[in-house]
Amino acid sequence: MEQKITFQLNGKKTEAMLDPSQTLLWVLRDHFGLTGTKFGCGMGFCGSCTVLIDNEPLRSCQVTVGEVAGKKVVTIEGLAEKGKLHPVQKAFVEHDALQCGFCTPGMIMNATGLLLKNPNPTTEQIKAGMEDNLCRCGAHVRIVEAVKTASKEMKGGK
Ligand code: FES
Ligand code: FES
Repeated sequence: MEQKITFQLNGKKTEAMLDPSQTLLWVLRDHFGLTGTKFGCGMGFCGSCTVLIDNEPLRSCQVTVGEVAGKKVVTIEGLAEKGKLHPVQKAFVEHDALQCGFCTPGMIMNATGLLLKNPNPTTEQIKAGMEDNLCRCGAHVRIVEAVKTASKEMKGGK
């Protein structure tokens, strides 16, 4: 049964009548039109549906919209600010860290969550933090380089 669900979506207070048991991924895509969050496996394996929930990168195919009531959800559409790309987005462009781009929103959201938790990761920590997001195109090496570059920029180049 539908009920009013309130949460923050990409920085804006959002209220909608929704069935709380609906999967967040499909609510984002179908109700809010935020199709940057991708459906890959629907089973929690691939990471293409990753969003930030209270700054934690989580797989939106495994979360219901009822579970995000009162929380902050950020999707790939909400990362850029005032028309300026987020450092992780910028680094992915600079390093050409994609091929078909299907995994890219999930990769960027996962990397952003990783850098919020650990602003200065080692290469090994980046690999460990990103390895559960799958890329069928084999862009992993460039993705690791992009995350390194973003980490420098997010620390002001220190
Ligand atoms: S679609 Fe959610 S993990 Fe694959
Ligand atoms: S760039 Fe194609 S799946 Fe990653």
